[in-house]
Amino acid sequence: MNIMAVESSCDETAVAIVRDGRQVLTDCIASQVDLHRIYGGVVPEIASRKHIEAIYGLAEEALKKTNLSRQDIDAVAVTYAPGLIGAVLVGVNFAKAAALALNKPLIPVHHIRGHIAANYLAYPQLKPPFLCLVVSGGHTMIVDVQDYTKMQILGTTLDDAAGECFDKVARVLDMPYPGGAALDRMAANGDDTKYPLPRSKPGENPYNMSFSGLKTAALNLIHHADQVGEALDVSSLCASFSAAVSDNLVPRVVMALEQTGYKKLAVAGGVAANSRIRADITDAVQKLGAQVFMPPLSLCGDNAAMIGSQAYYEYLAGNTAGMDLNAYATKSILGEAL
Ligand code: KG4
Ligand code: ZN
Repeated sequence: MNIMAVESSCDETAVAIVRDGRQVLTDCIASQVDLHRIYGGVVPEIASRKHIEAIYGLAEEALKKTNLSRQDIDAVAVTYAPGLIGAVLVGVNFAKAAALALNKPLIPVHHIRGHIAANYLAYPQLKPPFLCLVVSGGHTMIVDVQDYTKMQILGTTLDDAAGECFDKVARVLDMPYPGGAALDRMAANGDDTKYPLPRSKPGENPYNMSFSGLKTAALNLIHHADQVGEALDVSSLCASFSAAVSDNLVPRVVMALEQTGYKKLAVAGGVAANSRIRADITDAVQKLGAQVFMPPLSLCGDNAAMIGSQAYYEYLAGNTAGMDLNAYATKSILGEAL
């Protein structure tokens, strides 16, 4: 089954063609990052307009690159939630028009379910059930992936997402948007013990996390150094900050693996590209005698291939939509009847 998948929830316009949920025939992406960088973050109105300009050309490019004709497409999938509403709407309307014109099923996909599915592309043998740590720009949670379309949230951040914190701290350190990757690179040669930063304590639900205290502590430290004219060791600060984020995540993941008995952990979302988190997770999970799955960096960030993968399983579960499909800025990963 060849699924054409569309992703436009933030600042990447993407169209992929994925066969049977596992084989990426093509994954075309037009990034808007350079455009938004001058504003220090995504400008939603600009994002929507750029998606409109790019989307049709990308779909044509996807067909051309695969030598497929429109008739070879068996279904059209699209990220319908969550994201910047105007941006998501562009993808949803394009996908609706394409499905209608081709007379093929329309498959709505939750963006975060797509991030999880990036692991199916990287590891053809990976099948649910498994545990997944989702760490993206807007979401941070530990998910029990019971089946391809059946999930339970064990814990979530109570405030900021991990990616949001990386971006905020990087921005104050004058790194270009989106700062997570730049902060990660800067941390490479730093001393991760130089700046003590807080680790959030387990609350009522021990799987829940908090990042706002850490973010505020890092920002205060930077502002204070600025005010008193003290030179910061930026690379050690980045290393200390990355270690603190990782320490907020990893012990909770370990606890979740121990308590659920799962022997498989997947990591998903843009922050899954972080080298400190990847190293700490790999270490901790291997000590437990469990297996760790992490997409290659190219599949950690937003892309349409992951949407095409998840779409195949949504289709098999009967989760298709009609022409009344709407876009949603927020929606739980658990989904609900459309
Ligand atoms: O999953 P994603 O592409 O978009 C959302 O669905 O939100 O995640 C983007 C986030 C941004 O906050 C970005 O700074 C962060 O992922 N990110 C990183 C790294 N690469 C991307 N954060 C830390 N270290 C990285 N290497
Ligand atoms: Zn994403």
